[in-house]
Amino acid sequence: MTAIQSGASGALKGTVSVPGDKSISHRALMMGGLAIGETRITGLLEGEDVLATAAALRALGARVDRQADDQGATAWRVVGCGVGGLVEPSAVIDMGNAGTGVRLLMGLVATHPMQTVFTGDASLSRRPMERVMAPLRSFGATFSARTGGLLPITVNGAPMPVPVEYEVPVASAQVKSAVLLAGLNTPGNTVVIEPEPTRDHTERMLRGFGADVTVEEIDGGRRIELNGQPELEGRNVNVPGDISSSAFPLVAACLVEGSDVTLKNIGVNPLRTGLFDTLREMGADIEFDGIEDAGAEPTADLRVRATSLKGIDVPPERAPSMIDEYPVLAAAAAAAEGTTRMTGLAELRVKESDRLAAMASGLVACGVEVEETEDSLTVHGCGGQVPGGGAIATDLDHRIAMAFAVLGMVSRDPVRIDDARPIDTSFPGFVGLMNGLGAAITGPGGEREG
Ligand code: S3P
Repeated sequence: MTAIQSGASGALKGTVSVPGDKSISHRALMMGGLAIGETRITGLLEGEDVLATAAALRALGARVDRQADDQGATAWRVVGCGVGGLVEPSAVIDMGNAGTGVRLLMGLVATHPMQTVFTGDASLSRRPMERVMAPLRSFGATFSARTGGLLPITVNGAPMPVPVEYEVPVASAQVKSAVLLAGLNTPGNTVVIEPEPTRDHTERMLRGFGADVTVEEIDGGRRIELNGQPELEGRNVNVPGDISSSAFPLVAACLVEGSDVTLKNIGVNPLRTGLFDTLREMGADIEFDGIEDAGAEPTADLRVRATSLKGIDVPPERAPSMIDEYPVLAAAAAAAEGTTRMTGLAELRVKESDRLAAMASGLVACGVEVEETEDSLTVHGCGGQVPGGGAIATDLDHRIAMAFAVLGMVSRDPVRIDDARPIDTSFPGFVGLMNGLGAAITGPGGEREG
C-alpha cells in the first residue's frame, strides 16, 4: 500500500494496544548494547526506526536477536559489549528515517576511539545534526559532515574523552541523551543542563541499568549529572505502549460521535502527557485507569469517549511535553468549535518534515482556515464536520500521514494521503487497528485495507 484515503467514520468502539514506545525502544537496545550480560526486551517497537537501531548495534558489535516462543510471544535479546566495548563498524550505517536513532548513536560512538559513518533517507538527510555535533566535539570527537551539518556524517570518536558540562540551547531530549550517552565512556562526571524539562527516558533507564545519575530541578529546568564509566548490567525491560502512537486513536475517539475506546498499557511519563492536558482543556473525556509505576516508567489504560471540543490557547511551555502530538492536535482543533492557537512551535520545522508547513497546507487543502507564522499555528475550528477532500503530501513523515487519516474520519469528503508507507517507521498496523475500531481507511480507489 502506498496511497490511502480516510473517509467519514462511524462511532469507534473497542479496546486496543498500540505498538511499543519508540523513544524507550531505541534506548533499551542501546543500553543493552553497552551492558555486560543479557538484556531481554519485551514490547519493543518493531517499526523501521527501531529496527535500524537494532541493525546499527549489531554493526557496532552487540548481539541482537528476536526470539519468539511457541505461543508466538516475542522478546528481543541483546548481549552487550560493556561500556567502551563497541567495535568499529565495517560499513556505513544507514539509519533510514530515524532521527532519535542516529542522534543518540552519534553520542554513543563519539567517545569510542574509532570511525563510524552514518547515513539516512531523504528526510533524515535534511535534518540538523550540528545540534549534537557541537557538544560532542567538546568530548574530543571530530566530524566530517555534508554542508550545513547534514548526513552523511563521519564520526571520529575521541581517543581520550574528557567530560563536559553542557547547557542545551533548544528543548531536545535527543541532544540531552546524546551527551549523556557520550558521557558513559568518559571518565569523570558529565553534566547536562536543560532549560525546560524534556522526556527523561534516558535518565530513568541509565539508572535502571545501574548508572549513577542525579537530577536536580533548577529555575524551571533540570541539571543532570552522570558518573562516567559505570558498569551497566543487562536486565529485563518492558516497553509500554507509545503515548505518541496512542494519540491517533485517542484523538479520533474524542472527535467521532458516539466513540468509546480503551487503549491498554500506555506509557504515561509525566514529561510526555501534554496532549492529555490540552485535550482536557478543550473538553475531552479521557480517563486514566490503573496507573502503575512498578517499572522504570509509569503506565496506564486510557479510556476516551467522544465529546464536543472547543478551541483554546496552547501555551508554548507545553511544547516539550507534546512535541510529537501537534499534527494530531491540529486535526482536533480543526473539528473543535472556535479557535485554537498553538505557539512555541519552531522545533516542528525540523522534524521528519516541516510539520508546521505540512499541518497548515494540509488543513487548508481540507477547507480549514488557518494562520501560520514562523513558530505558531492558529486553527479556526469547523465546530464538528470538516469539509475534507484534500490531497496530503506526507513528505516521508509518519505523523503527518496518521494525523490526516484522523482528520478524514470527521470530514465530509475523504482525505487522500499520497504515501502511507512512512507510518511503518513508528506504528506498524495503524490502518488495521483503526479500521478494527470502526474507521474507514481504504486504498486509493476505496478498496478496504488492513
Ligand atoms: C525524542 C525526542 C524528541 C521527539 C522525538 C523523540 C527522543 O525530539 O520529537 O520523536 O526519543 O528523545 P527532539 O529531541 O528533537 O525534541
